[in-house]
Amino acid sequence: MIGELSRQGVSGIAATPHFYANQSSPEHFLAKRKTAWDQLRPHLLAETPEIRLGAEIQYFEGLHRYCGLEQFCIEGTKLLLIEMPQCTWTTRMVSTILEVSTREDIVVLLAHIERYLPYRNERSIKAFRERGVLMQASTSFFLTRRWTAMRMLRKGQIHLLGTDAHNMDTRRPNLEQALDTIYRKRGTLLLQKMAEREVMLLDEAKNNLG
Ligand SMILES: [Fe+2]
Repeated sequence: MIGELSRQGVSGIAATPHFYANQSSPEHFLAKRKTAWDQLRPHLLAETPEIRLGAEIQYFEGLHRYCGLEQFCIEGTKLLLIEMPQCTWTTRMVSTILEVSTREDIVVLLAHIERYLPYRNERSIKAFRERGVLMQASTSFFLTRRWTAMRMLRKGQIHLLGTDAHNMDTRRPNLEQALDTIYRKRGTLLLQKMAEREVMLLDEAKNNLG
């Protein structure tokens, strides 16, 4: 997958393995992630894109009170990738995310926004956006539901893209095709904006560290 992304011209990868709070403790997850990283590192080529470790946290009750939540942010950034349930969100779910979004050290990024659209979550999503929650869409959204994806991107309802790549068969990295679609739909400026946002999010953390 890394090789394929590299071929597609990617210069940086955020590796975001799933974290399920009901299945493992943060310590166990981070140790397992480190082991996997240590195993992978010796096999990386010099020209391999920069890889930052992160996580995709599945929503759970009490997430906002969870100790050490910041450890799950994508390395060197404040971005916390959260996966919401595929249902109409309850008031509690919404307030939990809004609570996390008030933290100075965390910027909430909702994973694959397109998956929540069939469940009448528009109002909640709007409330999230107004509070600075960022929305990520999968690259496949731009291949399967081109029109809706482009409309949302134009309206500023999609802030970042994610490949949601899991393997080289059924869920391959397909950033190249998605970017191609956006270019062909005259979205060059939108892509530029997204790239600038990405740089800013990376710098934000750097500035804070400095
Ligand atoms: Fe996910």
